[in-house]
Amino acid sequence: MRVAVVGATGMVGEVMLNVLAERNFPVTELIPVASEKSVGKEIAFKDKKYKVVNLQTAVEMKPDVALFSAGGETSLEWAPKFAEAGITVVDNSSAWRMDPTKKLVVPEINANVLTKNDKIIANPNCSTIQLVMALAPLHKEYTIKRVVVSTYQSITGTGVKAVQQLENEYNGVKGEMAYKYQIHKNAIPHCDSFLDNGYTKEEMKLTNETMKILDDDTIKVTATAVRIPVVGGHSEAVNIEFENDFDVNKVRAILQNTPGIMVQDNLDTFTYPMPLYAQNKNEVFVGRIRRDESQENTLNMWIVADNLRKGAATNTIQIAEYLLQNNLIG
Ligand SMILES: NC(=O)c1ccc[n+]([C@@H]2O[C@H](COP(=O)([O-])OP(=O)(O)OC[C@H]3O[C@@H](n4cnc5c(N)ncnc54)[C@H](OP(=O)(O)O)[C@@H]3O)[C@@H](O)[C@H]2O)c1
Repeated sequence: MRVAVVGATGMVGEVMLNVLAERNFPVTELIPVASEKSVGKEIAFKDKKYKVVNLQTAVEMKPDVALFSAGGETSLEWAPKFAEAGITVVDNSSAWRMDPTKKLVVPEINANVLTKNDKIIANPNCSTIQLVMALAPLHKEYTIKRVVVSTYQSITGTGVKAVQQLENEYNGVKGEMAYKYQIHKNAIPHCDSFLDNGYTKEEMKLTNETMKILDDDTIKVTATAVRIPVVGGHSEAVNIEFENDFDVNKVRAILQNTPGIMVQDNLDTFTYPMPLYAQNKNEVFVGRIRRDESQENTLNMWIVADNLRKGAATNTIQIAEYLLQNNLIG
């Protein structure tokens, strides 16, 4: 596989290179791609060095697959150009996710929707991926009616500029701001831009993408997304109302038996998921599983995952692995 990583110098791009190497994705040639300012920069991958090229050069080099994480505008303009050249694109931005002609894929849930004709495949939003990973097996068993989710999101979700802002604030240095407000010692209830309905785009992604991935537009999802000064991953407090009643121990067992999920839920040993320990892990961690005693058929739980891994790079590469294993590239 000749693999282009578009956005190779960014936060997701860097993790993408690590995950490609760790999972031994069969890369015969790496084509790192970034903006003009990075062209010529050297990127190390598996004992070799590769020079960053621009998007036009990358299309002309005709890789087999291009993994995009360079922002929505780049994807909107360039993914179709790659696709027209016969290159399969897996895109991390929000550009194509809700396009009815594009598939939105979490491999453990719906990779079976992919065909050879899918030339641009959308990777879901990071907060959505970890949420649906836990919702999908429970929806199958108990039928979800409504989900209330509050997120506690890592600054790594905003990219390198946000990590720099927190570092500057921590060290008392004045610098460029990724957020409108100080993030150090703060919680900002504002992820992505505001929409006319008073929600943020991030909150509506949780609603709309969940329905698309679970292929069920009767599921109601309402979200509040909050940025916190954490780097290891996103956390989510989730309240789920089911059509049918459940047994909490069975819920725990279902989640424990779901590939990609790790249950960390033992109150005697104070075992529960935390972003500090989720960092650099590919799994989605679930804990604090308990009945909502205020309402029937309703469950509370706490979900944590590294947004740069399962929320972005790992999921993208799992999609590419599925395409490869099922001969759907080219
Ligand atoms: N961070 C997350 O948790 C997360 C999760 C899921 C999806 N995503 C999505 O992934 C994308 C990148 O996020 P990030 O956090 O990695 O951001 P980032 O750290 O700011 O990196 C952005 C990358 O895109 C490249 N880029 C920017 N403008 C470009 C252009 N015009 N042409 C070519 N390359 C360009 C940058 O290259 P230079 O270094 O040359 O500027 C850099 O490699 C975004 O679409 C984001 O929504 C992020």
